Amino acid sequence: MNIILLGPPGAGKGTQARHLVETRGMVQLSTGDMLREAKDSGTEMGNIVAEVMAKGQLVTDEIVIGLIREKLESKEGSGFIFDGFPRTLAQADALGELLAAEGEALDAVIEMEVDDDALVARITARSTCGTCGEVYNDNTKPIPADGHCVKCGGTEFKRRADDNEESLRTRLMEYYKKTSPLIGYYYAKGDLSKIDGLAPIQEVQSSIAGVLDK
Ligand code: AP5
Repeated sequence: MNIILLGPPGAGKGTQARHLVETRGMVQLSTGDMLREAKDSGTEMGNIVAEVMAKGQLVTDEIVIGLIREKLESKEGSGFIFDGFPRTLAQADALGELLAAEGEALDAVIEMEVDDDALVARITARSTCGTCGEVYNDNTKPIPADGHCVKCGGTEFKRRADDNEESLRTRLMEYYKKTSPLIGYYYAKGDLSKIDGLAPIQEVQSSIAGVLDK
């Protein structure tokens, strides 16, 4: 089963993707994570994307489609969760073609509905474990009082460079201008399911399970 988690920054795509990896053995393909890895590698491509990401703008279609193509062609695993991809109509068309070339199909597109006020509150309170990437939130899922990650016991936590109000404004604008048209695109294809992304994390997990088990 291949699915897309669609939603604005902070909708909870990464949190839910990690849960699906743990509970269903699916494979998370997060273009944000891939781009952050490229950025940290200090390669030429990494340096180009670092500046774009810090501003909250979208990286070019060519780069992100290339990253996804590499993953799909490597045939490492199956049952993909596309997290943060596609983000433009060109990326959506490319994904359809790449999946078809691999003899795969898209089984569901899950739109996580949230509102902008909740996103600002979530993003500015987010941190992740520096070792395993587990996602925390100062308000809804705080780092344990003993300072150890619940998943791996790690003690280093980081905040993302683009998790500030200014970048978030640009990220939201990019979402509404370039990504939200995908809602109509996938609705017209009959692939779209909407869930309430404002509900507590476990309820969102149940809603997604409801879509996948249908
Ligand atoms: P990316 O890394 O994809 O970031 P994003 O889409 O902005 O999404 P986030 O990771 O910020 O949020 P999320 O929905 O995963 O929420 P999370 O689960 O962490 O992209 C970063 C940048 O890379 C882009 O700006 C762009 O520059 C570039 N990029 C990436 N992909 C690209 C592409 N395809 N094309 C072009 N450029 C691309 O949750 C957020 C917080 O809320 C956490 O603290 C969490 O604990 C909390 N939370 C989650 N769910 C709930 C809940 N139900 N209730 C309460 N709190 C919750």
